[in-house]
Amino acid sequence: MSFKFKVMSVFGTRPEAIKMAPVVLELKNHHTFQPLVTVTAQHRDMLDQVLNLFNIVPDFDLNIMAQNQTLFDITSKALLGLKSVLDQQKPDLILVHGDTTTTFAAALAAFYLHIPVAHVEAGLRTRNKYSPFPEEINRKLTGSLADIHFAPTQIAKDNLLAEGVDQNSIFVTGNTVIDALFMTVKKNFTFADSRLQNIDFKKNRVILVTTHRRENLGEPLRHVYKALKRLINTFNDLLVIFPVHKNPNVRQVVNEELGGVDRVLLIDPLDYEPFANLMARSNLILTDSGGLQEEAPALGVPVLVLRDTTERPEAIAAGTVKLVGTDSDNVFNAANLLLTNEFEYDKMAKAANPYGDGTAARKIVSILEDRFLSLGNS
Ligand code: UD1
Ligand code: UDP
Repeated sequence: MSFKFKVMSVFGTRPEAIKMAPVVLELKNHHTFQPLVTVTAQHRDMLDQVLNLFNIVPDFDLNIMAQNQTLFDITSKALLGLKSVLDQQKPDLILVHGDTTTTFAAALAAFYLHIPVAHVEAGLRTRNKYSPFPEEINRKLTGSLADIHFAPTQIAKDNLLAEGVDQNSIFVTGNTVIDALFMTVKKNFTFADSRLQNIDFKKNRVILVTTHRRENLGEPLRHVYKALKRLINTFNDLLVIFPVHKNPNVRQVVNEELGGVDRVLLIDPLDYEPFANLMARSNLILTDSGGLQEEAPALGVPVLVLRDTTERPEAIAAGTVKLVGTDSDNVFNAANLLLTNEFEYDKMAKAANPYGDGTAARKIVSILEDRFLSLGNS
C-alpha cells in the first residue's frame, strides 16, 4: 500500500514517554502508518533519559521546559508550538497519553485544527477536581476531546461510559506501562551506579521513595520526610533510596529534611532501566507517583501511596497498594506495621497485576490499523 496514515504521538514528560514508547515502537513495525513523534519537552533531562533508552528520536521537539514553570507556561507554550507542527504536518491522527498538561494542550490543539485524537490510558478518575491537581481535570478534558479512548482496565471503561462516552469508541487494552516494564526488568540486572550495585539486598531492607505531586509540595512533603527519618531511626537494617525529582520545590525540602541523614541515599532521577530493576529488588515503596502504583503490583512490591485519593483502584483491590496520605504519623505507622509484621507484609507482597499482560501497545496499534483500513476501504 503506498498511502500511509500519518499518526503523530505527542508527549512531554517522563511517564508519558515510558508509557508511549511501546506504542511508538509498535507503530514503526506496521507499514500502514507513517509514525511521527513530537515532544513538547515539558520535562527535559527526565524525558531525554527515556528517549535514549528506547532509541526514540523525536521528529519535532518544542523544548518548552523552564525552571519552576507554571501551568500557564506549559499550556500556552505547548499549544502555540503544537499549532505550528500540526499546521505543517497535518497528521491523520494524534496520539496522546494520560493526564499531563502536555496531554491536554495537545488534544486541544488537535481539536482546534479538526485533527482526530486517540487517548491512551483513558478513563482514570478520582472524581476530585483538585486531587490530583491538575491531572484529574487534564484527563477529563482530554477525554472530552478524544475520538478514540484506550482504557487500560474495565473500571476505566466504566468511568467513560458513566460520562456518556460512546461505547464503540472505547477499547480496553491493558496499560502500556506493563509492556515497558516487561521489556526492562531483568533477573540478573547489573547497576552501573556502584552505590546501587554494592547494596546487599539480603542484609538490608530497602525503601524506595519518589515524590513530586503538585498538591504535596511544601508541608505535606515535609511530613513524609520526617516519617522517613523516624523509620531510619527505628530500624537499623533499613536503607532509604530516594531518586529525587528535578522539581526545585521538591529538591529544596528533601535536602532540608533528609540531606546528610545516615542510610538515606539521595540521588538524581534514575534512568528507567535501573529504576525498574531497583523497584523489583526493593522491600517497600513510598510514593505519590501514578505509574509506580501500576508497576509495583506486577512486581509484588508493597506500595504506600502518599496521597489522599487514587485513580488506580485496581491496585488497591489487588492488595499491593494502600493509600496513606501525607500525615507523618500515618506514614510512619503504615510502614512500621509492614516492617514489623510479616503476615501484614506478605499480604501485600504478592504479584497480582491488574494492568495487562504486556501486549497493550500491540492491541492499540492493531485497533488503529483496523480503523484506518476500514476508512480506506469505505
Ligand atoms: C509533571 C506533570 C505530572 C506528572 C509528572 C511526572 C503536569 C502539570 N504535571 O509534573 O502530571 O505526573 O510530570 O513526573 O503536567 N524539571 C527539570 N528537569 C526535568 C523535569 C522537570 O528541571 O527533566 C523541573 C523544572 O524546574 C520544572 C519542574 O521540574 O519547571 C516541574 O516540572 P513540571 O512538568 O511542571 O511538573 P512535574 O511535577 O514534573
Ligand atoms: N521512574 C524512573 N526513574 C525514577 C523515578 C521513576 O524511570 O527515578 C519511572 C517509574 O518507573 C514510572 C515513571 O517514571 O514508570 C513514573 O513517573 P512519575 O512518578 O514522575 O510520574 P507519574 O507516574 O506520577 O505521572
